[in-house]
Amino acid sequence: MLGKDLLSVSDLASEDIRLLLRDAADIKAGGRLSLLSGKTLAIMFEKPSLRTRVSFEMAMRQLGGEAIYLSPAEVGLGERESVPDIARALSRYVDAIAARTFSHQTLETLAGHAEVPVINALSDLEHPCQALADLLTICEKKHDLAGLTLAFIGDGNNVAHSLMLASALSGVNFRVASPPGYRVREEILKLVQGYAAASGAEIVLTEEPAEAASGADVIYTDVWTSMGQEAEAKERRRVFRRYQVNDELMSLAKEDAILMHPLPAHRGEEVSPSVLDGPRSVVFDQAENRLHLQKALLAMMLGSLEIPLPGY
Ligand code: CP
Ligand code: NVA
Repeated sequence: MLGKDLLSVSDLASEDIRLLLRDAADIKAGGRLSLLSGKTLAIMFEKPSLRTRVSFEMAMRQLGGEAIYLSPAEVGLGERESVPDIARALSRYVDAIAARTFSHQTLETLAGHAEVPVINALSDLEHPCQALADLLTICEKKHDLAGLTLAFIGDGNNVAHSLMLASALSGVNFRVASPPGYRVREEILKLVQGYAAASGAEIVLTEEPAEAASGADVIYTDVWTSMGQEAEAKERRRVFRRYQVNDELMSLAKEDAILMHPLPAHRGEEVSPSVLDGPRSVVFDQAENRLHLQKALLAMMLGSLEIPLPGY
């Protein structure tokens, strides 16, 4: 069961994910307004953001609460002030903290010293809110999760880690095609294998994009160079060249396969414009579902989902 914080998808049980997806779909359909009335979320980011920042702010606002955005320059995490002191001080003002950090350790320190829930809004290790919203999108497009096959093509990064954990917990077969040296981390893989043994999900690691994509229901990719890795961009463009999701790769997937990407995208690198902007792309549905999923998550974490609302 979900405890105080959501730092990793592994903080959730498969039943938590099922409930979150159900509540998010319910909220999206127009239910449960005013759930977060009187609550305030601090959004504290070390890296840039469009979707995560705006979807968290709007989630709070649309459910009757408030959000305060603290930019990288304003807080100076660990520079102007120590992370534990920031956690303790913020806990006296707000009801929850959504933080985007470089090091995952920073998040753990923050959560360890905060009296209020801390949500991972992306770290170098994981992006749990993205993965959960992506499962919602897959449910909408494919009507069920168990037994589907998702192929992740590219860097074994934060997005791949969270998606792999969420898939394994939910019975989604997960294939990941990455070049040598850019595979998913071993500690994540260990967790994933444990979840897969329980859910029946099949996990495949390969270097071959075609092997991963063949017969898949979902083709997923992400940038080759994540935030903080800009100095490696040239080398990464070279290493990942044959990992582009283009029409040829998509033609190996099922006829009704969808293309997913967390955005922002680099057209012509990890994905061709024809695929990203083509009819199988669901990337803006993914972006929208961040809002609905995070509403359900905030309501679950701030303990208000069980309160029945007048007229609902
Ligand atoms: N997908 C995602 O997290 O986007 P932002 O970096 O714009 O928040
Ligand atoms: N892997 C990307 C995801 C951005 C939403 C990054 O960390 O920059």
